[in-house]
Amino acid sequence: MQVDVKKIVVLGTGGTISGRAAAAHDNLAYRAGEVAVGDLLGGVPMPEGFALQSEQVAQIDSKDMDFEVWRALAGRCAHWLAQEDVAGLVVTHGTDTMEESAFFLQSVLAPAKPVVLTGAMRPAGAVAPDGPQNLADALAVAGSKQARGVCVVFAGRVHGPDEVQKVHPYRLDAFSSGDAGPLAVVEEGRLRVFRPWPGGTSLRPATQLPPAGDWPRVEIVLSHSGATGAIVEALVQQGVAGLVVAGTGNGTLHHSLELALLQAQHSGVVVRRVSRCPEGAVIPHGRDQFSAPALSAVKARIALMLELMR
Ligand code: SIN
Repeated sequence: MQVDVKKIVVLGTGGTISGRAAAAHDNLAYRAGEVAVGDLLGGVPMPEGFALQSEQVAQIDSKDMDFEVWRALAGRCAHWLAQEDVAGLVVTHGTDTMEESAFFLQSVLAPAKPVVLTGAMRPAGAVAPDGPQNLADALAVAGSKQARGVCVVFAGRVHGPDEVQKVHPYRLDAFSSGDAGPLAVVEEGRLRVFRPWPGGTSLRPATQLPPAGDWPRVEIVLSHSGATGAIVEALVQQGVAGLVVAGTGNGTLHHSLELALLQAQHSGVVVRRVSRCPEGAVIPHGRDQFSAPALSAVKARIALMLELMR
């Protein structure tokens, strides 16, 4: 059967975009999760020829994101993406862990349709809230035939899930793709595309994720001046399954920490090494003791959790 009107589905998870300012002059005084996702859409311009549907999946400050919500969100995304009349999805999300959720969703969905995460740095009721424009841009990307895969749309730029990072705690243009640059920009609802959209296949399909309590424990440790192996030893004692170490420069490690990580690896803990530098990625060489994905520490952790899932 021919389906004429396509739908964009907006899934709400919370964040500042869903907060209401307690005082117009104070962008930090707000209660997150006060505005339901359906109410965020009022007055936001829709791309022509689309119907809109919304669903509240969670209503949290994204600093509290957990595996339960991720699993539910991935399940709802998979459900809607499978509907023939759905052109794309928008996910409203807090900015603080948006890059993690974007990477997670791309890893488990690898969707052919666009799944667009967006949010706001200022709550509703601020003198000049940024949420409505970000939402309008996100809807334009979700309805675009050019877009595919998971991306973050923020302050007029479209970022890919592997590269996107929150780089500023306050300014409106809080996200960057580092030296890779954005995938595209949104200008008056139109996309200007610079790079290929994310593709590939899912590391672990969204419908096959184990219950949240069964996800493998993977922790992040940091190499720094005066680092020791004490944290690694404590984590190994607690039965950690994987460790991501954020090293200095090209992923180099303080010798005390490195020794503890080698012992951990020897005892069966899977170790990944990344760089703590905000841009670039570790360049592997022949003397590497630990494999080094070209990801930030928080994303390498997600990739390792998915890899270690049974
Ligand atoms: C959050 O991440 O939920 C709070 C901060 C924000 O959305 O900007």
